[in-house]
Amino acid sequence: MDPDTDPLLRKSFDLLRTKWGTVPYKQHERIRTVDLLRLPDKELVELWEQSHQAAAHGAAFANRGWYQALYRDIFRGRKVMDVGCGMGLDTIHYAEHGAEITFVDIEPSNVEVVRRICDARNLRRNHFLYMEDLSSLRVLPADYDFIYCCGSMINAPMEVSRLESQALLEHLPVGGRWVELGYPRARWEREGSLPFHQWGDRTDGGAPWMEWHDLEKLDWMMAPAAFDVILNLEFHYSEFVWFDLLRKS
Ligand SMILES: C[S@@+](CC[C@H](N)C(=O)[O-])C[C@H]1O[C@@H](n2cnc3c(N)ncnc32)[C@H](O)[C@@H]1O
Repeated sequence: MDPDTDPLLRKSFDLLRTKWGTVPYKQHERIRTVDLLRLPDKELVELWEQSHQAAAHGAAFANRGWYQALYRDIFRGRKVMDVGCGMGLDTIHYAEHGAEITFVDIEPSNVEVVRRICDARNLRRNHFLYMEDLSSLRVLPADYDFIYCCGSMINAPMEVSRLESQALLEHLPVGGRWVELGYPRARWEREGSLPFHQWGDRTDGGAPWMEWHDLEKLDWMMAPAAFDVILNLEFHYSEFVWFDLLRKS
């Protein structure tokens, strides 16, 4: 099977695109990035500011704020691939603190919104990639320090995520880190152990697939690459799980 041309993989990405032009906004809201593209630069930047403020400060510090405070220093001066950038709620913030971010998304309007905000804010060290399929990744270099997947790799069945992560890992040498935000099994059980094609209605306003991840699934997804575990941390009452993994082979 060739992951570049496989029809099932193409179908999965196309299905994901039907939902994911609507991305997280503020703490609990969502917004369509095609609508954002109609705004003039000044309003777009203000809206991002408000969204970032609401998503990471005050009560939301326990949600996004703590890891932004941690990773903005870790990422400074490093090359980070943001897989599934949405509207860049975390990663534009890291870019402002000196990270070199490559913003990647399966939805072109998400990438375009982030590009416009970076340009308007004069953040010049960044790169932008619309991932139509896995072959799109080929233009990227092989020497990222971090692959950062905040809520993106949990949106497809494990077979699809495995093919995608194999393509992504071509760009992460030994010594690089895979950082992922997902949902833990405990949350899935608490919310009624729904089939994964239904759970996305509950967690993400109608995502076509939502799957909990744990270390065992990640091991399978990334093998034969192997990782040491820096963090495997459930937080915010087990609503989320944070993985920070160091590639060792
Ligand atoms: C829950 S949103 C998170 C957005 C952003 N990372 C954040 O933290 O606000 C999921 C994002 O991942 C993207 N996405 C969904 N499935 C993906 C996949 N298989 N590979 C890469 N990106 C994906 C969506 O287009 C969307 O931008």
